[in-house]
Amino acid sequence: MTEKIIILSDGRSRPPLIPATLVPATGELRDGLARPLHDLRISITDRCNFRCVYCMPKDVFDKDYQYLPHSSLLTFEEITRIARQFVAHGVEKIRLTGGEPLLRKNIEKLIAMLAELRTVHGKPLDLTLTTNGSLLARKAQSLKDAGLNRVTVSLDAMDDATFRAMNDVDFAVADVLHGIDTAHAVGLGPIKVNMVVKAGTNEQEILPMARHFKGTPHILRFIEFMDVGASNGWNMQDVIPSAEIVRRIGAELPLVPVDPNYTGETAARWRYVDGGGEIGAISSVTQAFCKDCSRARLSTEGKLYTCLFATRGHDLRALLRAGHNDAELSGAIAAIWQGRSDRYSELRTVNTDGLARAGERRVEMSYIGG
Ligand code: GTP
Ligand code: 5AD
Ligand code: SF4
Ligand code: SF4
Repeated sequence: MTEKIIILSDGRSRPPLIPATLVPATGELRDGLARPLHDLRISITDRCNFRCVYCMPKDVFDKDYQYLPHSSLLTFEEITRIARQFVAHGVEKIRLTGGEPLLRKNIEKLIAMLAELRTVHGKPLDLTLTTNGSLLARKAQSLKDAGLNRVTVSLDAMDDATFRAMNDVDFAVADVLHGIDTAHAVGLGPIKVNMVVKAGTNEQEILPMARHFKGTPHILRFIEFMDVGASNGWNMQDVIPSAEIVRRIGAELPLVPVDPNYTGETAARWRYVDGGGEIGAISSVTQAFCKDCSRARLSTEGKLYTCLFATRGHDLRALLRAGHNDAELSGAIAAIWQGRSDRYSELRTVNTDGLARAGERRVEMSYIGG
């Protein structure tokens, strides 16, 4: 058997520097391109029970795949302690991701801890979670009770055979739809449904998905297949530009554009002319939205990434476990954000072959969170 080496994370992240002068958090932190910090996405497990072909292809994520050991994961106390510093720097939204976050044991306990945090304006956070929906029907009520506000559910097709082939573990559409219904019934809305569109794989599902969710309270969003990570075999030929997706839907179900809900929103919004609700188009490849990107990402083992396409993270866990205090942690986070200049998708727009530097490997989506 040939030996296979899989690099999941960068393996050589930098221990963050603690600035000599610790400036207290003011809730107004700007990066090198004047972008504020508003959104913290926390990956709480690198495991998933799906093997989506564009994210965790089975030939890479097989039975020999080495997931992070439990001791590497941030504990709930560590996550909450880090999140508190981010909130003091201006974060207003926290999204739990994975892998599949509902696989993390006692996630409700973590949600309850995060739900107690207050923004610098004294308001509760927008606390949400991205899930594949497989455990949602079972967990929706306890998530709501713990203080979760809403969920975003991934679903790539209405056609059962297509969906089973894309998740590659034979999971049925009906079970995800049941999860969505249950989440809606317990008040975890507005629910967003994310569909990754891959040319030649599920593009024929664009209209059936639009027809299904039109007239429901759920917001369907189409995501361009991205070159995230290093194992999904991305190719520009596999991308259907959002403009084309919107054109195909609009030809049957007329659409008009809608203003963004907030600066830096990932999705461009469109509403059905007949009042049947709205859809979103997330065009990371053809219309990059780095200009207003206010998202920080915390990996399962406590590394801070300032871009989804980063090759290196900043090891916050090392600071915690070395006994640094909150002021030092806060100062290190501020220095990292102030030094940020990432705009990978914008740069990729002019170089569609992908941009990984020689010898550098981008981290996987299942590790850093979507
Ligand atoms: P809302 O708070 O509901 O607006 O969610 P969101 O759009 O911020 O987050 P969500 O996780 O639903 O994002 C949808 C998809 O957009 C993700 O699954 C990614 O594929 C993509 N995405 C999210 N953030 C980024 C980002 O910063 N850069 C890029 N390139 N893609 C992103
Ligand atoms: N391109 C675009 N979106 C992706 N996701 C995972 N991998 C990719 C990719 N290569 C999306 C999933 C889910 C979220 C976690 O990220 O569909 O909605
Ligand atoms: Fe799992 Fe989501 Fe990745 Fe699919 S896209 S393999 S559900 S983490
Ligand atoms: Fe933000 Fe990086 Fe995505 Fe651009 S590519 S929007 S900088 S995470």
